[in-house]
Amino acid sequence: MRHLMSPLDLTVEELDKLLDLANDIEKFPEKYAHACDGKRIATLFYEPSTRTRLSFEAAMMNLGGKVLGFSSANSSSAAKGESVSDTIRMVSCYADICAMRHPKEGAPLVASMVSRIPVINAGDGGHQHPTQTLTDLLTIRSLKGRLGNLTIGLCGDLKFGRTVHSLIEALVRYTGIRFVLISPEELRVPDYIREDVLRSNGVPFEEVIRLEDALPKLDLLYMTRVQRERFFNEDDYVRMKDFYILDSAKMKLAGPDMLVLHPLPRVNEISTEVDADPRAAYFRQVQYGVYVRMALILTLLEVNV
Ligand code: CP
Repeated sequence: MRHLMSPLDLTVEELDKLLDLANDIEKFPEKYAHACDGKRIATLFYEPSTRTRLSFEAAMMNLGGKVLGFSSANSSSAAKGESVSDTIRMVSCYADICAMRHPKEGAPLVASMVSRIPVINAGDGGHQHPTQTLTDLLTIRSLKGRLGNLTIGLCGDLKFGRTVHSLIEALVRYTGIRFVLISPEELRVPDYIREDVLRSNGVPFEEVIRLEDALPKLDLLYMTRVQRERFFNEDDYVRMKDFYILDSAKMKLAGPDMLVLHPLPRVNEISTEVDADPRAAYFRQVQYGVYVRMALILTLLEVNV
């Protein structure tokens, strides 16, 4: 039995196979419509979510399966003090696979250690969000045609943004990747990403503060929101929250093929006027999230179609 805690739980070869499967699902959805008949996914969300929870549920329903779960800690027995370990022991009796989001780093890993069903990390605190990374990789590969030889700008809250941490870890395994890390001083990537992931893999990167300086050299811009829920101090959040706003004027500085991705939700960091720009790919990215989660469910349940 396999779990997914980090994108690195999949080798590059396994990842390629999973993305190929997602592309096949996109092309031939009817082929997969009954692949999970009789199977159930439990979505255990101790933190708010729109995309991740609903896309897991849509993915299982598209495969013919059923869904159960909770969408907040308060609507589960966690509110009465039940541990994650005990909860997953119960859920192992009700479902075949589970996706868990939790504010504490490592909570899905703790669950996986006692679980009788595959556990998928659907976001743990400021740590990792591997299925967002699978979504991002599928989007990039489908729209750019490759996962190597790209200059990628990551902009915004690079300190607390778990999607950025997972994406960097996944992309350093491809050749010709260069990063431009765009953030205010207070929200730079954590040291372990800079030292243990980027420097130790010999991946070229630069850190800049001004988005305008980075835009002309990028193949892809990955915008992120400032993660209000991870700040200890509301004043710091208010000071940082509008540091970057991508608008039509700034998009003029970018190349004609530079894609804009965002894991969403967006707050103010991308002006709605950018939505109509053909380079804005963040809503297409959401659709890829369903295909890749369908592929992941099939892979972890070892269902062959
Ligand atoms: N991208 C993402 O994780 O969105 P949600 O928080 O809505 O699930």
